[in-house]
Amino acid sequence: NKKVILDCDPGHDDAFALYLLLAAENIDLIAVTTASGNQTQEKTYGNAKKLLALAGREDIPVAKGFRKPIKHELTIAANIHGESGIDGAILPDIPIEEPKEKAIELMARVIQEQDEKVTIVATGPMTNVAIFLLAYPELHEKIELISFMGGACFGGNWSPNAEFNIYVDPDAADIVLKSGVPIAMFGLDVTLKAQFMNEDIDRVRQINTPVGRNFVGILEFFSTKIAQPFLAPSDHIEGQHLHDACAAAYIVDPSLFKMVPLNVAVNTAEGLNYASTIVDYNKKTGRKENALVGFDLDRTKFVELIIDSLSKF
Ligand code: BDR
Ligand code: CA
Repeated sequence: NKKVILDCDPGHDDAFALYLLLAAENIDLIAVTTASGNQTQEKTYGNAKKLLALAGREDIPVAKGFRKPIKHELTIAANIHGESGIDGAILPDIPIEEPKEKAIELMARVIQEQDEKVTIVATGPMTNVAIFLLAYPELHEKIELISFMGGACFGGNWSPNAEFNIYVDPDAADIVLKSGVPIAMFGLDVTLKAQFMNEDIDRVRQINTPVGRNFVGILEFFSTKIAQPFLAPSDHIEGQHLHDACAAAYIVDPSLFKMVPLNVAVNTAEGLNYASTIVDYNKKTGRKENALVGFDLDRTKFVELIIDSLSKF
């Protein structure tokens, strides 16, 4: 089985990424670390703990990440994800204990404990992942892949050209993309095609278990937030975009996606193009390819995988 660490900021679509990884028979989720992004660190950490409790998987270690991005103040997305960070869910009201390790310590420990390489799935701003890479250069060779949701070849959802996760911590994304570690990027080009339609929500309704009912609540709340600022550039306006689920689904079944090896850079300078990703689609820079970039997916199979996964709990 593939060993996976999830660094997330749950987060409606983060919850889907988590449950895809928990349900997959070819994956062992060995740790969860929390990013600050959709909400503050306290809230995303609490949500991760509660989502694991709902799945009956309190055995998976969870650690808190950094409270702030590397250089900038934290931007949160309460307008999309609500005050709790996952409004609409009805998660178990468990006591939230302080973790014993910090996120980057937990990442290092579980990677050192494995004989084989480990995959990191990152579905929030990449502050933890970047600082982990800087702090533990000797562990880079033990990373199979960093699969992240963020950026875009075309357009943005937080500013004209910036996607939220990169906008929150562009310096972190820059460090990750320059690290030399294998990377798969799931930007808006593909995640806006990862739509969950009303008829798909109806199928989740039929699951009718505590997990099923939670995800209906998650989808119903998230659906009310679709119009702004997640407006799609082309014909993908209908349905709810499960951005983060793409970065996880790729690890479960890479055949769902069309990926192109390209060079990706991050604009960390202030200005109108702040935090945009520059994807050299036409190979104009001569820079070496540093990421597999997602452009398309088999939506029908993607939806099947999600419904199948949620039905397992
Ligand atoms: C990303 O931003 C967050 O709001 C979502 O969880 C996702 O990670 C989409 O731009
Ligand atoms: Ca997220």
